[in-house]
Amino acid sequence: KQISIIGAPSDYGQQRRGVDMGPSAIRYADVSERLEALGYEVKDEGDIIVKRAVSNTQLDTNLKNLKEVVEVCTQLSDKVSEVIDQNRFPLVLGGDHSIAIGTLAGLAAHYKNLGVIWYDAHADLNTPATSPSGNIHGMPLAVSIGLGDERLVHIGGAMPKIKPENIIIIGARSVDPGERELISEKGIKVYTMHEIDRMGMTRIIEESIAYLKERDVDGVHLSLDLDGIDPLYTPGVGTPVPGGITYRESHLAMEMLEEEGIITSAEFVEVNPILDERNKTADVAVALMGSLFGEKLV
Ligand code: ARG
Ligand code: MN
Ligand code: MN
Ligand code: MN
Repeated sequence: KQISIIGAPSDYGQQRRGVDMGPSAIRYADVSERLEALGYEVKDEGDIIVKRAVSNTQLDTNLKNLKEVVEVCTQLSDKVSEVIDQNRFPLVLGGDHSIAIGTLAGLAAHYKNLGVIWYDAHADLNTPATSPSGNIHGMPLAVSIGLGDERLVHIGGAMPKIKPENIIIIGARSVDPGERELISEKGIKVYTMHEIDRMGMTRIIEESIAYLKERDVDGVHLSLDLDGIDPLYTPGVGTPVPGGITYRESHLAMEMLEEEGIITSAEFVEVNPILDERNKTADVAVALMGSLFGEKLV
């Protein structure tokens, strides 16, 4: 397998600066070397261009930095699509989770029935009407199923990008009222911390794999928000929520997905080195990538 690393250094989807340095922090934690050691040919495509200045254009919306997020995600969508055209595995480094709008738009050009594993403390299913914050990083899943601001929903062309029944959220423990409604209305599969405690990660990943296979997906994207993991292990995130997935459970999840060979693209988001302790969160991100690409087998 050939891997292409794409940096998406954007912090426009939320209000804590520093997450734009996520790709640097992850590179500093030796992501390329780690994957090369596993025998992959790794190409670092560099970062997409994120303009540093906020335009402050007052748009007709409560969404923060909408214009900037659209610019970033449009570029990222093109880049992801281009990498797949070259038969390479896209590994996207965030940036806040709003960049997933771009990643999924790029993937949608190639996959007609994509499965998505959303590893996160949050559901990221808000719309402009339900968002408590106006922060677009709380909206990417809603946008990708076709709900929300038209300028986001139409990035990269046709919409929706994914089907609600092809989504599995793992690790949820901070879900807003509007998101709950959407989850039950659309039948989105969610494993909250309660199910993880009760069933164990082994069964959850086994069930998830079976669920996606039943749906005959033509690819599976892993969108891993580092705040899905307990902040004890990953303190460098903008919206930490206590009581999260452990370090070991997360490695187990990555290893099981690797054994199945089911993942066709991935992104690791919300690493904020300004809020971190000695790059701990980027180190965990890279260690999990190691497991996702087969480290335990060597
Ligand atoms: N639900 C909250 C909101 O919409 C928090 C979202 C956090 N999302 C994230 N990707 N960290 O504002
Ligand atoms: Mn989150
Ligand atoms: Mn429309
Ligand atoms: Mn998220």
